[in-house]
Order: sequence, then C-alpha cells, then structure tokens
Amino acid sequence: MKSTKFSRRDFLKVSGLTLAGVAVTCSGLGYVATDAPTIPNPELTLRKDKTMTQTILVAYASRAGSTAEIAAVIGQTLAERGFNVDVKPVKKVSSLAGYQTVILGSAIRMGSWLPEMVKFIQTNQAALTALPTALFTVHMLNVGEDEASRNARHAYTAPIRAILPQATETFFSGKLDFSRLSLLDRFIAKIVKAVESDQRDWQKIHDWASQIVS
Ligand SMILES: Cc1cc2nc3c(=O)[nH]c(=O)nc-3n(C[C@H](O)[C@H](O)[C@H](O)COP(=O)(O)O)c2cc1C
Repeated sequence: MKSTKFSRRDFLKVSGLTLAGVAVTCSGLGYVATDAPTIPNPELTLRKDKTMTQTILVAYASRAGSTAEIAAVIGQTLAERGFNVDVKPVKKVSSLAGYQTVILGSAIRMGSWLPEMVKFIQTNQAALTALPTALFTVHMLNVGEDEASRNARHAYTAPIRAILPQATETFFSGKLDFSRLSLLDRFIAKIVKAVESDQRDWQKIHDWASQIVS
C-alpha cells in the first residue's frame, strides 16, 4: 500500500479533538458536518436467469462511495453466476423476506462500521442468524498480513461478530478521495496526513464474490 503514515489511533485521536473543537467553535455552523458531496448510492436489481429461484441481497453502508462500488461489483459477479441479486444501501432495506443469502458490507470510520449498518444488524439479528450471511469490511489501515494488522482489523468487526457469530467475513482495502469527503472528514484526513489513493483489488473482490456462493 502507498505510504499511509497515519494510524487508527491518529484517526481516533484527531477525530475526537476535532469533533470537540467543532462542537465548541461551530455550534452555530451545522453545515460543517453536513456539507458532504452527493455520492451515488447504487440500487441494482439483477435478474439474468429467469429460472433461478435464489435471490441474494447485497446491502452496504458507504460515505464516500467506495464501499458502494464494491457492493455493485459483488452483485454483478453473483448475477453473472446466475443468481438473482438486489444491491441496495442498507437504509433502503425494509425486509429480508424473499432472500436466501445476505451479504452486508460497511466502510470503516474511526475504527467502526457505519452506524446505520450496525443498527440494521441489531434490528434484524434473528432473521440474519437464520440465513447464510457474509460480511465485508472496507478500510485503509491495518491491511497487512502480520499479526498486528490482522488483530487490528478484526477489532473493527468484533462488535458485529458478537451479534452474528456464524457469519463469514472478509476485508477489502478501500479508497480515500478527498473530493468525496465532507469538510470535517477532509480536515481529519489531512491532519493525520492520510494519502489519497485507491487500493481496491478488484480481482480479490471478484474472487471472493465467486467463492462465497460456491
Ligand atoms: C474520517 C475518516 C476516518 C477513517 N477511519 C478509518 C479507520 O479508523 N480505519 C481504517 O482502516 N480506515 C479508515 N478510514 C478509511 C476508510 O475506511 C476508507 O477510505 C473507505 O474506503 C471508505 O469507504 P467509503 O468510500 O465507502 O466511505 C477513514 C476514512 C475517513 C475519511
């Protein structure tokens, strides 16, 4: 991975300080946290084989779009294998009825899955426990194969595994694009000297999607 000098602790420390500073100095300026550029949230209904009875849900939580793009590629890979697939932002999923398999993915922010996905999993724990469920996490730090990296990225999803211990999971390197961040997030990223880059390994994503249903 290109030089990402920042650490998770940097992200957490700076975001804590920054949020406190923003709360104090910008209490009248609500726009600081809400000025995020509009990011496409793809919704795909993929039905290639009319005889197929299995439908897979790929639901995602994304802020800057890279997780959404990964979800779309996972959906297309599954559709090429003949499955009916719905790809949706998790906020648009009202029910799990009609799905035989569920794939859930979230970006990492400040060491955690995005809150809308955590809430969805908490709310739908019983239904998800009854279905084959796979999880994917999109992040930029702790991507190495050494033990410290592995432990650190597994810590991101420990709260999720506590709710869905049976789910299989994987981790994908993501993308940092300052033009897709809110002012506050760009500020945090710059302070921790985060470097813009796209580390997504499309072959790895494609291979994972292919094997997850085999
Ligand atoms: C404000 C901010 C905080 C982040 N915190 C972390 C983190 O704690 N650990 C990590 O591995 N990546 C972190 N990242 C990197 C994102 O997980 C990565 O850019 C991901 O691809 C974003 O997904 P999205 O484009 O779907 O929002 C952070 C990025 C931003 C902008």
